[in-house]
Amino acid sequence: MSSHAHVIGWGKYLPQRVLKNGELSELVDTSDEWIRTRTGIRERHLVEDGETTADMAVQAARQALEVAHFNPTQVELIIVATVTPDHLFPSTACLVQDMLGATRAAAFDLSAGCTGFIYGLSVAANMLLSGAYRSALVIGAETLSSITDWTDRATCVLFGDGAGAVVLQSGENEGGVLASSLGSDGSGGDLLWLPAGGSRIPTSQRTLDERLHFIQMKGREVFRFAVKVMHDATCEVLEKAGHALGDLTLLIPHQANQRIIEAAARSLDLSPEMVYSNVEWYGNTSAASIPIALSEAAEKGRIQTGDLVVCVGFGAGLTWGAAAIRWTRPQPMLAPLRRRIVRRLYYSLARIRSRFRRLIRWLSAFGIKDGLNGGRRSKE
Ligand code: UT7
Repeated sequence: MSSHAHVIGWGKYLPQRVLKNGELSELVDTSDEWIRTRTGIRERHLVEDGETTADMAVQAARQALEVAHFNPTQVELIIVATVTPDHLFPSTACLVQDMLGATRAAAFDLSAGCTGFIYGLSVAANMLLSGAYRSALVIGAETLSSITDWTDRATCVLFGDGAGAVVLQSGENEGGVLASSLGSDGSGGDLLWLPAGGSRIPTSQRTLDERLHFIQMKGREVFRFAVKVMHDATCEVLEKAGHALGDLTLLIPHQANQRIIEAAARSLDLSPEMVYSNVEWYGNTSAASIPIALSEAAEKGRIQTGDLVVCVGFGAGLTWGAAAIRWTRPQPMLAPLRRRIVRRLYYSLARIRSRFRRLIRWLSAFGIKDGLNGGRRSKE
């Protein structure tokens, strides 16, 4: 019997701090009116000092595991889609694996700009379908405020921080991720990029002086590209899944700009109720935007068992992609209090476990060093 990759859990995390349009007009030459009419955004959430992409990813993942009634030790694969990892390496996924105590999981990051979550979902679903893994945690998480140029009005009004996550599990019953469709066009790489800090333009005093460690974007070009690929990717994935637009229950687009969402809806001839939007409250959270919207839609009961949902995104690369999902998970019951307490305890133990492993590593390194010294001494 063939297997299917089902979405069995979902979660989201938005940091506490809210930045409203009015506050931005104190930083740069802009206005609440311009931002609202050109983008549909009213406010966005930003991390507090010290809060990172991994921290937010863990919060969203914990919620998704709670909904799935899954223990971290049951997770076999963790993919974090992000363009704002905690470090270039190790991967943010490994930090998440450690913080969750997902002791049996393989973990890696994936970089596909704002399309990252769709790429991650597609990779994970196919790894489940191949039989190599039985469960996966797919996370989109971003701290865009750390790469936003707060002196550039063309970009700083757009972005926000946050994380969203889903748990995938393989099962014999029909449904789950029915199809995915991914695309790329590297010739548009410089339309939306962060120029410095990699091997082509390593960090230097010049790159700092010229503000090359912040997002740079040609907004109008990205806008035109976005509307086209949102339409094409949605149609393509539905066709791959053997469905027509008329079968669709809900479209969950990347939340970049309300005007892009509405233009895509118009070109697909979808009514506004069939297109989920929350860009007003969170801004563009890049790879986190689709899983945040998907989780919110599920939480609000906008997605029910049997519904056909298409997630569609576009972003830096340039990349685009869509995934068609037949929803099979009923609205979750809250896990019993005892189970929730045990899980919370487990997360505290995961922290202790992590420190313990570091200590053991440190002690064994110390031991090896001693051994080497001893060896040298004995030769002398
Ligand atoms: O996840 C993917 C990431 N990116 C996107 O999806 C972005 C896609 N693009 C967009 O959303 C839109 O192109 C923007 C919201 C970025 C810009 O909207 P637009 O309608 O394309 O504006 P524009 O770039 O054509 O600029 C119009 C005017 C310009 O002034 P002039 O040259 O006409 O005098 C800009 O300088 O608006 C000016 N402007 C602003 N004015 C007030 C640009 N940013 C601002 C601002 N406040 N924040």
